[in-house]
Amino acid sequence: MTTNDNKFQEIISHAKEYGFVFPSSEIYDGLSAVYDYGPYGSELKKNIRDYWWKSMTQLHENIVGIDAAIFMHPTTWKASGHVDNFSDPMIDNRDSNKRYRVDHLIEGLADKLKDEGKTQEADELIAEMDRLLAADDYAGLKDLIAKNNIVCAISGTGNWTDIRQFNLMFSTQLGSVTEEADTIYLRPETAQGIFVNFLNVQKTSRMRIPFGIAQTGKAFRNEIVARQFIFRMREFEQMEMQFFVRPGTEGEWYRYWKEARLQWHLSLGISPEKYRYHDHVKLAHYAKEACDIEFEFPIGFKEVEGIHSRSDFDLTQHQQYSKKKMQYFDNDVDPATGKPFGNYIPYVVETSIGLDRMFLLILSESYETETLTKEDGSTDSRVVMHIPAKIAPVKLAILPLVKKDGLPEIARELMNECKPHFRCFYEEKDAIGKRYRRQDAIGTPFCVTVDHQTKEDQTVTIRHRDSMQQERVSLSAVREIVSKNII
Ligand code: GAP
Repeated sequence: MTTNDNKFQEIISHAKEYGFVFPSSEIYDGLSAVYDYGPYGSELKKNIRDYWWKSMTQLHENIVGIDAAIFMHPTTWKASGHVDNFSDPMIDNRDSNKRYRVDHLIEGLADKLKDEGKTQEADELIAEMDRLLAADDYAGLKDLIAKNNIVCAISGTGNWTDIRQFNLMFSTQLGSVTEEADTIYLRPETAQGIFVNFLNVQKTSRMRIPFGIAQTGKAFRNEIVARQFIFRMREFEQMEMQFFVRPGTEGEWYRYWKEARLQWHLSLGISPEKYRYHDHVKLAHYAKEACDIEFEFPIGFKEVEGIHSRSDFDLTQHQQYSKKKMQYFDNDVDPATGKPFGNYIPYVVETSIGLDRMFLLILSESYETETLTKEDGSTDSRVVMHIPAKIAPVKLAILPLVKKDGLPEIARELMNECKPHFRCFYEEKDAIGKRYRRQDAIGTPFCVTVDHQTKEDQTVTIRHRDSMQQERVSLSAVREIVSKNII
């Protein structure tokens, strides 16, 4: 196991121990690739979602939000191409009966080669895999697996079946009588709820092109290889925005959103060197141009967000299948003809980020075990989550030094003043050092201690999580200090 694997395992344990993420239905031994968010996890997840939502809708006058249902008319998925194309090439090992996604199997070897310092060999392997995937050359991919002696992790053999496609959508029945019930799907992406509502939204919010529609919500995929904690789940949440543009302008908007989305990540103060773009060679069935924003997780550089230029594919398909016009009338004047642009089906640039993956990114970037040197030269350590203050689950911990002498009453007053404005936490049990450590472990950026001096001069100690610096400030200034650091 490499050091990074250890760090990843430490993060998973920490997330459970401190109420961020629990395995789903754990008392029944869990459900593979399904997770529940605990008290601090649900708070952090909500804060990430709100930060995205605000940046998309409140800060862009030409983007509005919707909240579409998870269930959609089954024809939606026929029109979108998901029934026919939303599948991954898979291969089974005949000895273990274990099924693998072909790209994951080959990437696994590439990661191993990189760990051994054989970077060029790894890059060549990935390039060859991308070429074969782009050509849908399954025989070639099987040869690549055989040539590189890739074996099943369970049986240890290379006794592989041919490569086949498996659809990733979950289906269920709508209606109570099985024989009459319709098969419907749990949406595999939130985007289609936006496409089918395109004209409802455009007309009711009187949007003019270019404009966007944003949505957050659950999506479901029957991932065959679902591992790596919340990185790849079967039930997960997406934050998607479809930006509708005039045909011919999609290239410039694609570049705009590619850059704007990276800047959103950096606005959280995350190190730029942890990010990179990956331009797609094999495009999804709807895409004209596409890239991933990748982040260096402890398990390597992986996709956290996709930017896709989807052309007019989805709206055209829905127009064809529903027989309802999906056109927009553009009365801006075309300088080339001197006449209005008129009716057309808009092109779409999509930004699509996984909320759970962004959550994992924040955990990975924030988690640190720090070694501290004390004044007498001895060492100690603390686990600290450097979660950006604006999305931290708790912003301020209010801690009376002792449980008596009127200190809890003053602390409670401060709590009542602050809690309508941001999430606070009150605690009077245990030594102050222990209480600080617990707040460090959940990423609380500020702790305030009310002590005996507070009674005399109305000041408190405010402690900063990252530097551990403490300063004496006026009790009446606390709310303002915290507020201005969490915007
Ligand atoms: N509407 C486009 C779309 O769904 P995608 O690249 O398949 O594109 C977008 O997914 C994002 O959703 C990914 O970048 C990832 O963050 C997240 N995502 C996809 N599958 C996921 C899964 N099984 N578990 C967690 N997040 C996932």
